Amino acid sequence: MSRTFRAYRIFEAADGKFERKIVERKTDDLPAGDVLIQVHYAGLNYKDGLSSSGHKGITKEFPHTPGLDASGVVVESNVPQFHTGDRVLVTGYDMGMNTDGGFGEYIRVPAGWVVPLPSAFNLRQAMIVGTAGFTASLALYKMEMAGQQPKMGELVVTGATGGVGSMAVAIFSKAGYDVVASTGKSEEYEYLKKLGAVRCEGREYCNDEKKRPISRSKWAGGLDTVGGNTLATLMAGCGKNGSIGVCGLVESPKLETTVYPFLLNGVNLIGVESAETPMETRLIIWDKLSTIWKPDNLEDMAIDTTLDQLDGYVVKILAGKTRGRVVVKHQH
Ligand SMILES: NC(=O)c1ccc[n+]([C@@H]2O[C@H](COP(=O)([O-])OP(=O)(O)OC[C@H]3O[C@@H](n4cnc5c(N)ncnc54)[C@H](OP(=O)(O)O)[C@@H]3O)[C@@H](O)[C@H]2O)c1
Repeated sequence: MSRTFRAYRIFEAADGKFERKIVERKTDDLPAGDVLIQVHYAGLNYKDGLSSSGHKGITKEFPHTPGLDASGVVVESNVPQFHTGDRVLVTGYDMGMNTDGGFGEYIRVPAGWVVPLPSAFNLRQAMIVGTAGFTASLALYKMEMAGQQPKMGELVVTGATGGVGSMAVAIFSKAGYDVVASTGKSEEYEYLKKLGAVRCEGREYCNDEKKRPISRSKWAGGLDTVGGNTLATLMAGCGKNGSIGVCGLVESPKLETTVYPFLLNGVNLIGVESAETPMETRLIIWDKLSTIWKPDNLEDMAIDTTLDQLDGYVVKILAGKTRGRVVVKHQH
């Protein structure tokens, strides 16, 4: 049975410009896949902003429906592991990149992308967490595998009011770390302290204009969502055997550094790639997110919106002006 639904869709015009429109679609037009899901909530990520503005590094072919994150209810399944009525979430893989994503009221995806909704979350809460919370947790998981421990000292988080940044502040402090939040928004210090930051600093705290290859130890480790000189500064100021998780590039994809942080301080540079995380690890991360790392402050991080209001938030996230997580409620 084909169903009609609404989707926020990106079109490429003949002049190479991109247009964003809410259109009607049919489920028959969705890509082939094992599981058809009625999407109840979606989450907005920086990458969705890039896809929505026609970034060909993210989305190669248009028209396209972005949305890396979706939660909802299974309405059709070709596989035994999922049944009609199951509550599920999907984050990452190719969804929202080159497969129609959560900014449509239905998605059809391979069964291997689908995670049963953890009982600790409802469908909306799962999207407050979304790719951002998953990425922050994956970073901590890998940093701890490399030896990071709370007793080593403070962890710094850059881009702290963003989606990944806010989640990292909340999750790292829940995991027992003293978290220093670096942000360009001094008016949000109270917000970050409420999430668990022991201290807030301006962006310059983690962006050494003098580009010193190594400095005195300023943090025991950290998570960088920003890239460029900020990442180089995080490495230069990291204490002995600390880990720096690398997950974003809102400042720059470039990294200019030296080998000194590695040679003199044994610093670990930890790559964080959430989208293709294998299902086995994915389930471990969702289990931690649902239990020992479950953020206490989900509501403080959430901005609720609808498909009709989404475009304004797409513009804002590209300008670095959102706070926490924007959650889109589909009206069924
Ligand atoms: N590797 C992965 O698997 C993965 C997963 C998710 C996201 N990411 C990446 O992580 C980054 C953050 O994603 P997000 O969804 O959390 O985005 P977001 O919500 O827009 O957060 C980005 C934050 O970075 C700060 N910022 C913006 N422009 C900046 C600039 N020019 N210089 C320094 N800081 C700036 C702002 O925070 P303040 O105002 O507080 O400084 C902003 O809120 C993006 O690059 C995204 O692609 C990677």
